[in-house]
Amino acid sequence: MDILLIAPDIEWLKSAKQLFEAKNQFKVSIADNGVQAQKLISKVNFKLIFLNLDVLNHPGIQVLKFIKIKHHNIPLIFQDSEIPVLSKEILQKFKNYSMFVTSGSLADLLKLATTLAMPDVVISANKNKPTSTSEVEGVMELDKNFTKIKIDEFFSGKEVPFDVLIKMSSGRYLKILHAGDSFCGERLNTYKVDKKVEFLYFNIEDRPLYIRYTNTLLKNASSNKKIDATIKVKLAQNVCDKYVEELHLQGFRPYLVEQGKQIAQNVYKMIKKDKAVAKVLMGLQDLRPDVHSHSFLVTLLSCLVARQFQWNSDATIDTIGTACFFHDIGMIKLPKDITAVPTGVMDVTQQKQYKRHVQLSVGMLPTNSMFGGTVDQIISQHHEFFDGTGFPRGVSGKYINVLSSIVSFVEGFVEKMSAEELTPIQTANKLFTKMTFVQKHNPLVMRNFLHTLIDAKDVNSKTQ
Ligand SMILES: [Fe+2]
Ligand SMILES: [Fe+2]
Repeated sequence: MDILLIAPDIEWLKSAKQLFEAKNQFKVSIADNGVQAQKLISKVNFKLIFLNLDVLNHPGIQVLKFIKIKHHNIPLIFQDSEIPVLSKEILQKFKNYSMFVTSGSLADLLKLATTLAMPDVVISANKNKPTSTSEVEGVMELDKNFTKIKIDEFFSGKEVPFDVLIKMSSGRYLKILHAGDSFCGERLNTYKVDKKVEFLYFNIEDRPLYIRYTNTLLKNASSNKKIDATIKVKLAQNVCDKYVEELHLQGFRPYLVEQGKQIAQNVYKMIKKDKAVAKVLMGLQDLRPDVHSHSFLVTLLSCLVARQFQWNSDATIDTIGTACFFHDIGMIKLPKDITAVPTGVMDVTQQKQYKRHVQLSVGMLPTNSMFGGTVDQIISQHHEFFDGTGFPRGVSGKYINVLSSIVSFVEGFVEKMSAEELTPIQTANKLFTKMTFVQKHNPLVMRNFLHTLIDAKDVNSKTQ
């Protein structure tokens, strides 16, 4: 994969090239001045560009304008000058960029480039990888630096691009897979069965890499009929959960917005290509209704309902899927004690505070929204009800965008499902007999949700 590194220091460029080519399948071109950089950009179809804006003989800012014409879509990494030259207006013109701090090391840059370039880049296998369990490596590090996944939900392709650890006790970990190691299912099974290991851990710094990696697995699995639908749903849940965790931590970074769109597309592809996914989803009990999985459930169910509408298109479903990832992001700005209280038991003051999350979410959206305002509208109306009893504006009926009505219905549905730990089928049985719920929602949306259930049942009877 061709990448271009542009920086004024030729020695730095040479070391970077050497490191990047040794560790990854990158084919690295380098340029220590603007003229040379522009010549290369004209000739080669680069998949990623790093630009240190201190470059001279065409200055960095001119090279940037040139990149905008040729490659405004590809991942870019900028390193700004001591006196910053990048304005918000310039940055808004790029869809997929990351900033790289001046104090960052070459290893940090490699990690960032790998994260942005996945899935097109493969990490070279670690030559010193441990071959047996006795060669695992002990790690002492603070618990807050790790994020976990269930061991039986860990899916891997050939090589893992990040270190995988197990927890021995607080602050003590064992590295069982090194970045670049080939995955060995048998070995993981030993931990699971013999050592009763429940969770695998990886460093939160590797979360972006994990997301890209699992999203690629999801993309490949979505149309593969040989892979069980339950595995696909779990895989989608994993990538969505970790994505929302990252989004809550980082906020709206341009590359994260782009990535959210890609994940939503893969989730939709999975629903579209494999009808058994809906069936599996409707019967699943352990859907982990925590704060991150809430976004996953709302995304998946909203896409399923939107699909039933005649007017659905891939673009509409991308939009609703992406909006669902972001719909509750404003919650991170609310005090922790509010977000921990279930909405059903909130007092009046807590409810007032909670309702602010809608405006807070909209306020956090990037100004250069790539969906022409529809994502903003879905989010701003995701708690409005058909009978006008919703919030924040209390609009009703036709004044609510149909896509918002879908999310509003699914929101209520998921809330019930999570509060009582029900499967979607059990939730539907309870809610559709409740007048107070039914009158709040768009009849067409509810009808299409029921169609989803019927379709799922059909798959059920066909497969039995
Ligand atoms: Fe929500
Ligand atoms: Fe909400």
